[in-house]
Amino acid sequence: MKHVFRKGTDPNAPTLLLLHGTGGNENDLLPLAARIHPGAAVLSVRGNVLENGMPRFFRRLAEGVFDEEDLIFRTKELADFLDQAAIEYEFDRDNLVAVGYSNGANIGGSLLFHYRDALRGAILYHPMVPRRGIPLPDLSGVPIFVSAGTNDPICPPQETEELQRLFEGAGASVLVHWASYGHQLTGMEVDASSEWFRKTFDQE
Ligand code: MLT
Repeated sequence: MKHVFRKGTDPNAPTLLLLHGTGGNENDLLPLAARIHPGAAVLSVRGNVLENGMPRFFRRLAEGVFDEEDLIFRTKELADFLDQAAIEYEFDRDNLVAVGYSNGANIGGSLLFHYRDALRGAILYHPMVPRRGIPLPDLSGVPIFVSAGTNDPICPPQETEELQRLFEGAGASVLVHWASYGHQLTGMEVDASSEWFRKTFDQE
């Protein structure tokens, strides 16, 4: 997968796995990583699917309707890529925290839905429920920050609450940050996620 890797200066910090939104690329979220933890190593990946020229992490049949078969295939593809990247770049595979926005948050959520120990934690900006009706792996001890907009036309508040219930049902600790905005990523939620990251991973 196309990607950027930047070595960190803080060897104890989690490596940040950056996952862009639809139409984005591996450079989009790099400034966020610097705000979340400047010393962290960064692995930023570009989605392998193109929708009218726009990179995504998996296909969709319509807005909000995912191609489930492709989602499963792409989630495995990403999980395998992470295993290889950890060997190539010598970062701790067990200390990887996803930071994803929109479509990137959805594949990040899908990693957590499908693979135990895929991630040590996650910051998911405006995620949806990636799949329904499947048992989740044990997510005990996995901290997850979710941000949501009460006026988000792509992810209605009930879907955020459903996602929170599913994650918590699997044992994860979830913090949901609400704002009265839509689907856009705001500076406020990035600040809230940075503070959460510092507290959660003890990176004062
Ligand atoms: C998706 O397809 O993953 C969601 O609708 C979010 C987006 O617009 O990318």
